[in-house]
Amino acid sequence: MVKLDLKYVRQQFPAFSSKTLASEFFFENAGGSYMCKQVIDRFQRYYEQRKVQPYYAFKASVDAGAEMDMARVRFAQYLNVSIDEVLFGPSTSQNTYVLSQAFLGRLSRGDTIIISEQEHEANSGVWRRLECNGIEIRIWPINEADGRLQISRLKPLLDQTVKMVAMTHCSNLVGEINSVRDAADLAHQVGAILLVDGVSYCPHGFPDVNALGADIYLFSTYKTYGPHQGIMVIRKSAWHLLEPQAHFFNHSNSSKWMVPAGPDHAQIAAANGIIDYFDDVDYHHGGSSDKERPRRVQKLLRETEKPNIQIMTEYLVGRKDIRLIGPSVANDRVPTFSFVAPHISAALIGKKTCRRWYYGRNRTFLRCTIICRDGSRS
Ligand SMILES: Cc1ncc(COP(=O)(O)O)c(C=O)c1O
Repeated sequence: MVKLDLKYVRQQFPAFSSKTLASEFFFENAGGSYMCKQVIDRFQRYYEQRKVQPYYAFKASVDAGAEMDMARVRFAQYLNVSIDEVLFGPSTSQNTYVLSQAFLGRLSRGDTIIISEQEHEANSGVWRRLECNGIEIRIWPINEADGRLQISRLKPLLDQTVKMVAMTHCSNLVGEINSVRDAADLAHQVGAILLVDGVSYCPHGFPDVNALGADIYLFSTYKTYGPHQGIMVIRKSAWHLLEPQAHFFNHSNSSKWMVPAGPDHAQIAAANGIIDYFDDVDYHHGGSSDKERPRRVQKLLRETEKPNIQIMTEYLVGRKDIRLIGPSVANDRVPTFSFVAPHISAALIGKKTCRRWYYGRNRTFLRCTIICRDGSRS
């Protein structure tokens, strides 16, 4: 089993050598991760040499357009989908908003949308608001005791009126990796599509979206070492349910039809840097540019996290004064931890201990949320 060279990884992130950040590295994914140098280098080149309207015939413009196109091609390879299924939008919240408008155009009164109770507001409110238009909203409830989402509770909600199920690949609080494949199979049985929020999952490795069976898969590149953008994978299986949201002359343009505003060209070009980083990590660990690379990189990152997740989980489960939310087995979760601390204030825990937990024993990246008696979080 190849071991991730953490020294090499740190060298890819200029923030690690910043004097102002010395000994303070908050690589937590809610606020976004620091950018790897490959992304920063591409930004610099774009702004210095290519900051023009892309896709015209002069060199700077040709180079700008080619770099943007390349980002789409490379993300499609890593996510195992086709190029015309990858779109860049401003953020996941804005992308779900646009998608909800797109769905509305094709739904009828009495159609149903199921939303899991584990959703971030980005993948909940936009769907709930469609109730005003006669769309029924059903909630796929979590287990009260541990916050987990079980497939067995989705089954009874499904019938022929259901057009879409919205779920998270991994909740930003519970940290459990949900069974997307099983949910996809169930949704497809009644002719519904599955929309998956991958924002909290993707910082831990890009998934094989084809294997997951999701019809729409969303995540944010500012949490995966890149620019502040959201990626929408819209599989062909969902196209018939969506009304184009772009300028009318872009309706048949596969990179623009679901993006109402003009894109940030530099950000799309610089997103290549995320893939450069993954490719560099793979080369460094003996890989080559074969078709197995995306899964090899995903596995390398994931296997590196697991021992730290186990250490943290065992520690939290062992504390009698707190209650861990989500699974206690490393394999089932990402290093995002929430626990309820009934007798201690969140602020105090944060002050005294959070910093050490953020680092983890091997100084890889952990994230933890503390929920206090009054519901406040730290
Ligand atoms: C699980 C999850 N989904 C969606 C979002 C929203 O993403 P964005 O900030 O790109 O709108 C977040 C943001 O933190 C999140 O944690």
